[in-house]
Amino acid sequence: MTLQIKTLEEYHNAYRRSIESPEAFWAEQASTFYWRQPWHTVLKNDFITPDIQWFMGGKLNITENCLDRHIAERGDQTAILWEANDPGSPSVTYTYRQLLAAVNQCANALKERGIGKGDRVCFYMPMVPEVAIAMLACARIGAIHSVVFAGFSANALAELIKDSACRMVICSDFNARGSKNTPVKSVVDEAISLGCDSVESVLVLKTGEEKVAFNPALDIWWHDAVAHQPDTCTAEIMDAEDMLFILYTSGSTGKPKGVVHTCGGYMVYTCFSFRNVFQYRDGDVFWCTADVGWITGHSYSLYGPLLSGAITLFFEGTPTFPDSGRFWQVIEKHKVTQFYTAPTAIRALMASGHDEPDKYDLSSLKVIGSVGEPINEEAWHWYENKVGRGKAPIVDTWWQTETGGILITPLPHITDTKPCFASYPLPGVQPCLVDPAGNEIHENGIEGLLCLKFPWPSILRTTYGDHERCRLNYFAAFEGKYFTGDGCRRDEDGRYRIIGRVDDVINVSGHRIGTAEVENAINQHSVVVESAVVGYPHDIKGQGIYAYVITQHPVTDEEHFRNEVLMVVTKEIGAIAKPDKIQIVSGLPKTRSGKIMRRILRKIACGESDGLGDISTLLNPEIVDELKSGVLV
Ligand code: PRX
Repeated sequence: MTLQIKTLEEYHNAYRRSIESPEAFWAEQASTFYWRQPWHTVLKNDFITPDIQWFMGGKLNITENCLDRHIAERGDQTAILWEANDPGSPSVTYTYRQLLAAVNQCANALKERGIGKGDRVCFYMPMVPEVAIAMLACARIGAIHSVVFAGFSANALAELIKDSACRMVICSDFNARGSKNTPVKSVVDEAISLGCDSVESVLVLKTGEEKVAFNPALDIWWHDAVAHQPDTCTAEIMDAEDMLFILYTSGSTGKPKGVVHTCGGYMVYTCFSFRNVFQYRDGDVFWCTADVGWITGHSYSLYGPLLSGAITLFFEGTPTFPDSGRFWQVIEKHKVTQFYTAPTAIRALMASGHDEPDKYDLSSLKVIGSVGEPINEEAWHWYENKVGRGKAPIVDTWWQTETGGILITPLPHITDTKPCFASYPLPGVQPCLVDPAGNEIHENGIEGLLCLKFPWPSILRTTYGDHERCRLNYFAAFEGKYFTGDGCRRDEDGRYRIIGRVDDVINVSGHRIGTAEVENAINQHSVVVESAVVGYPHDIKGQGIYAYVITQHPVTDEEHFRNEVLMVVTKEIGAIAKPDKIQIVSGLPKTRSGKIMRRILRKIACGESDGLGDISTLLNPEIVDELKSGVLV
């Protein structure tokens, strides 16, 4: 197993070594895995093109490291512990041995359908054990999974299937979450009807008795395809730099981009970070509440824990079903030791069940984590007091889809914690702050743009099918540095505090949403001429979506119009991108060159009508008063 830091001194030593000789440091970590062939060169470091490669020439299969490697020592230990949406349903467990067999069976089923190395397979699934099984089955045979959060619309799903020309879609019939049982297969059917010609088969998991439309030319039931398969399957030998998966995420411009992660570096870094950030010890029960549709689910529900031989809890449900004690009930039931969730869930639970945690025995907890967005001070203290109870420190972990794993975080029981601070870089991580001109800021007690100066093993390699976009998005803003898109403060002691995105990305309930995507969706409405979308502070979601909309003619029934806009956004993207507020306006503040002044729109949406700066240079300064007087609070 990779190094597990246990003391502050060990952290400082490891950090120093990782900076002085990164290649030796990471080679040491990588050597703890099972490789079919060793690498010849540890790192190719080109942050310009970019061309980043780790463990070059190395051959491996990540599933041999997630599964086979553990059989001798912990074959009968639980690997996945599944808790269903319905609290009355019995928990389901897969031991490492059972999981390996299930993965092999699924892998054989995929092969039977013609899926092989390099093929892309799209997932549109709920949080059930089969999603883990099928993702690992892809990795087993060298196919590339592209998991799409099952809340995105058919239109959005179709775009992503087309972008990477997926040959197969894996879905369920329904998705049980909270009191709803949402049809899933019908969304996939609709997506495929939108011209996804690359799809040759759809593997459908049956979750209940309700019927779904079934097209025998394309569809195949999971139980028919998988159950009879042999439970052994030779793992495909992969190059360290072969693609492991694609995960789409929103950026500031255009459509979502497919972030590409590769086998070797991702494996080394997710295991290393998991073991250190959560201080996982044998027998612990680790629970990350993220859906596998997001990177957190990939790295810390699935790969990081399994690579470490851990017990990972998968949860199908929601924090508030049947009531706002559900998380605490699950922690008590399974004696969860590490709990990892998002600030939006913490805030929602704080609001709906402030004293609810008091009713449960949470004494098993050793570490509690936060991820996805800045956590506000009130939520941080509530989480620490009510859930951590002075025993389990908070790890406020900063990272991104593109970073593959956690980069900045406290180490529990090792480094200190400070409310709202992600704190310190993990070994191998070299953060820096730059000013808008790209000059590195060396002082402490200052704010800047967060960059990384040196690659870590799980940095993205490219964006699928468009390397230039990857270069422009992350490597072109500041030469020789990876730019995160986040603003950040460094305190006097060198701790980092993430302030939030500085680009046109809104973080809604920990989900990244590009303003351009929402605008494009709103503009599909026949009466809309133009729109501009900005974020504003929202008590539960962190940021809410505020849309300014210009219509062709005055709208008589505003309520009806707003509902139509919400429907269009739900159809184009999904319910998570629905604006919270829609202000109908006659114009948008623009510069003389026609650029929308988003800074002004943001301030007005935040209720800050003073301090808008000099508006006299605008093409249409008179519009500002109209916007201010109509602002929705
Ligand atoms: O703005 C940062 C915010 O989430 C963004 C990355 O989003 P995504 O790729 O969806 O990954 C989320 C889960 C890793 C970042 O650019 N973010 C993430 N973690 C934190 C955070 N903001 C503040 N504090 C964090 N701990």
